[in-house]
Amino acid sequence: MCGIVGFIGEEQAAPILLDGLARLEYRGYDSAGVAVYDRENNALSVHKAKGRLKVLSDLLQGGAAVEGTIGIGHTRWATHGAPSDVNSHPQVSQRGKIAVVHNGIIENYAELKAFLLANGVEFRSETDTEVIAQLIEYFYRGDILTAVNRVLHRIQGAYALGILCVDTPDQLIAVRKDSPLILGYGDGCSFLASDVTAIIRHTREISYMEDGEVAVLTRTGIQCYDHLMQPVQKEVVRVDWEIDAAEKGGYEHFMFKEIMEQPDALRRCISPRIRDGEVFFEDFVFDADYIRNIDRIFIVACGSSYHVGMVGKYTLERLTRKPVEVSLASEFRYMDPIIDERTLVVVISQSGETLDTMAALREARRLGAKILSIVNVVGSSIARESDQVLYTWAGPEIAVATTKGYTTQLAMVDLLGLYFARVLGTIQPEEYREVLTGLSELPEKMERVLQDRDGVQYLASQYFNHRSIFFVGRNLDYALGLEGSLKLKEISYIHSEAYASGELKHGTISLIEDGTLVVALGTYGKLFEKAMSNVVEVKSRGADVLALTTESRREEMARTANAVITIPDVSDILLPSLGVVPLQLFAYYVALMNGCDIDKPRNLAKSVTVE
Ligand code: M6R
Repeated sequence: MCGIVGFIGEEQAAPILLDGLARLEYRGYDSAGVAVYDRENNALSVHKAKGRLKVLSDLLQGGAAVEGTIGIGHTRWATHGAPSDVNSHPQVSQRGKIAVVHNGIIENYAELKAFLLANGVEFRSETDTEVIAQLIEYFYRGDILTAVNRVLHRIQGAYALGILCVDTPDQLIAVRKDSPLILGYGDGCSFLASDVTAIIRHTREISYMEDGEVAVLTRTGIQCYDHLMQPVQKEVVRVDWEIDAAEKGGYEHFMFKEIMEQPDALRRCISPRIRDGEVFFEDFVFDADYIRNIDRIFIVACGSSYHVGMVGKYTLERLTRKPVEVSLASEFRYMDPIIDERTLVVVISQSGETLDTMAALREARRLGAKILSIVNVVGSSIARESDQVLYTWAGPEIAVATTKGYTTQLAMVDLLGLYFARVLGTIQPEEYREVLTGLSELPEKMERVLQDRDGVQYLASQYFNHRSIFFVGRNLDYALGLEGSLKLKEISYIHSEAYASGELKHGTISLIEDGTLVVALGTYGKLFEKAMSNVVEVKSRGADVLALTTESRREEMARTANAVITIPDVSDILLPSLGVVPLQLFAYYVALMNGCDIDKPRNLAKSVTVE
């Protein structure tokens, strides 16, 4: 959701900015733009275009057409004002002195705009961002940092900003509040960006900006200031993942690559957490007394991470015998949750930047809870604001539809459940060993599931033209269905719903008619007979049933369902980790056969940094 890149150095800026923006495309956007300082004319050279980045890039010959060695670039995901050239960023002030790129939302922009209009400022766009550019120019008396600082005292909301001023062509300004922004240190150059993927080709030395910080970037270095404009010394960290991890590496789509990467991602996530037959978390801050004292666990997350939470409820309640509530982060904020210092809030987020999840975390902390987060992106905001972070180490996930993010989060919840259960004495040693062994064998079993992908592809070719698809299951299979359904609808645009099978007869079954596709999830052994009854129920009303079950149940299921996909038998709580893989593949192939833009589905953003 909105991508920002900034560069100052000796090289031509525009190609670097466009390349950086291309790496941020996965975040989701609808228009793009760059502003570069044009020394010859002592002016800002601004170029913007609605649509794919390629439109802008072709216009600028990949950047070669724009002279200048300092600039800012942006991919915009529209909030205030429709996607259009004029609403794209950078937004430029009336006299052309200031250009701004912005990720986030300025909540009091209408009031500020009215103030500026009353003072004779003319606006060109409908964006909240133009207000920032105009306001900086309004306060500008020759010292850009002072003007920016005055504006920061007036704007409310969430923002990451890149600012370029025509009078200070040897510096870029970066600002962060509630929207991610990183700084990159190069040789004779400096960068700012929404995330590491945009600049990793140029530098691995980065700093994470904190809320309220302002940074001044020059060719020789970066100086950061806190919200009181006192200089701060930033910690520089080295990014250790390989550039290939953020490239397609021969695959047609990132999503497919990331599906195939899951066994390795799981190995990275699980192996270091098992030592001498026990779950091991390095520097874990919650001791046995604290864990015993927890009287309730609250899981908060959005989207697929929320679906992990739905599985997590089953897993954690079963293993720890503590009550677990799962809440959508967007609802949690406003529901006046019953939380105190004996509540552990488990925050789940692949990106670590989802605004609703972040707001829920802060609300939980305000109410006295401790926060344990399960996060993929190292150094992200959620990770940094948690009492304890468990990184999933899935590697960069670029496709909007999460896959390896989801399965590694599930594995982490399983590890956490086992760890707590051991401390609490709520698990028998045999079960502990069985699940732990199952977890360490998961990558290998997942490889087997992935090897069977041709079968899933064939089934997708049979069903890809259905316009409405139902996923049904009970208990763990219901939680799995939620994720299977989301995966399908977000990338293929096919209407799909997930239902708890027992609810069918309370309404949904009236939607079943001849030829309706029902994906019946029957992996959970304890409820297999119930799952079978639901298959019979929908079949007798004309549904086509595509069933998912375990290898040991294939025959039984095949007697009734039209088609069956199987996964290897594993301990109950590990079933969703394997079961989701054929559902990811099914969604992928169906979307492919429907000619959809798989990695960048319409209207969606990878990291949702607005409410
Ligand atoms: O980065 P997060 O895990 O916090 O993201 C939450 C959701 O936005 C995300 O899972 C979304 O639902 C995915 N597109 C699903 O594939």
